[in-house]
Amino acid sequence: MNIRYALIAIVGLAVGGLGALALLPSQQKDANGTQSASMGKAQVGGPFTLVDGSGKAVTDASFRGRYMLVYFGYTYCPDVCPAGLQVIAAALDKLGPKADKVAPIFISLDPARDTPAKMADYVGSFSPRLIGLTGSEEQVAAAAKAYRVYSRKVVDTKSPNDYTLDHSSIIYVMDPKGEFVMHFTHATSADMIADRLGKLL
Ligand code: NI
Repeated sequence: MNIRYALIAIVGLAVGGLGALALLPSQQKDANGTQSASMGKAQVGGPFTLVDGSGKAVTDASFRGRYMLVYFGYTYCPDVCPAGLQVIAAALDKLGPKADKVAPIFISLDPARDTPAKMADYVGSFSPRLIGLTGSEEQVAAAAKAYRVYSRKVVDTKSPNDYTLDHSSIIYVMDPKGEFVMHFTHATSADMIADRLGKLL
């Protein structure tokens, strides 16, 4: 992992930390100045409409009733996304049959190159459980915004047709109603992820 990816991971952790803070009970004053405690919800996640590996439209509602692991990246990613997908795949293997309660979703940030078939091939090389989703530029941008995912195209000056994406690398855990629960990163160990998920399931 180079320094740029390390920095992105740190920024991602900071954003994730803010999300966790938002889960804490907050004291709010209403117009009369009286205090009321409320449970704030983390503003991470939300509706999305994307396309699965067979070209079929799917939405967040398609996964209600299961926990979702939501991870964003792209198939040309040199190191971070493969690391993230490997730990997700290994953690699900460790969970055994409990993993059936989890929908592990990889969403492309590079829909121009990541066709539905390419996503299906790519995620299948890590685990048959993984679900690869892509979509139009607008659909992908809307999903990334909902999950507060940072992504920026970096063009190779020596080869302008090539580009990579700098992107945050957070594995979001969403509950069966689609609400944020916790997050991991590509650097979290498979054992840790399996342990934390195993307690939820
Ligand atoms: Ni990546």
